[in-house]
Amino acid sequence: MITIKDKRFDLFITNEQLQEKIDIVANKINKDYKGKRPVLVAILNGAFIFAADLVRRLEFEHEIHFAKFSSYEGMDTTGNVEQLIGLTADIKDRDVIIIEDIVDTGTTMKSVIPQFFEKGARSVEIAVLLMKPGKLEVPLDVKYCAMEIPNEFIVGYGLDYDSLGRNYKDIYVVKE
Ligand code: IMP
Ligand code: MG
Repeated sequence: MITIKDKRFDLFITNEQLQEKIDIVANKINKDYKGKRPVLVAILNGAFIFAADLVRRLEFEHEIHFAKFSSYEGMDTTGNVEQLIGLTADIKDRDVIIIEDIVDTGTTMKSVIPQFFEKGARSVEIAVLLMKPGKLEVPLDVKYCAMEIPNEFIVGYGLDYDSLGRNYKDIYVVKE
């Protein structure tokens, strides 16, 4: 068990389990993008650990860039997706893979995808570590998802609670 600020969390998904799931999703991506040269865009801050583990498994040539959007405060999404660090890379006519830590309501991805198409992307797919299908509020086509989880708040492996806990190797779930 760990404590972050006012909350206690139990071990939920071990790093070993995560790595197994990332292997599977990386294999799929390797098959689909063989011979292509996509642009990967990892969404800060949460996806930095997943992105690092994912790209080291990719066998095709690719660029990786970073962008930052914000919609979460504390444990609830605010619904406002604001661009905080813009994408400077030229993605015109490129295949884009967005790397995200978790899809919760889907609000962030839903509003981010059109922004990539506006910049001229030929295709945009999402590679996400975790999804909470029970919380999805908007239709969203997630092509690559490593794991689905129930509607619980989690931390670790890049995911935070009030900016803390990203450093844990494993993922923890909040105690009731
Ligand atoms: P959405 O826009 O509601 O899909 O929220 C997506 C963003 O919320 C993710 O990029 C995460 O940063 C954050 N988020 C969603 N669920 C959790 C969670 O359980 N723990 C930590 N961050 C989360
Ligand atoms: Mg995030």
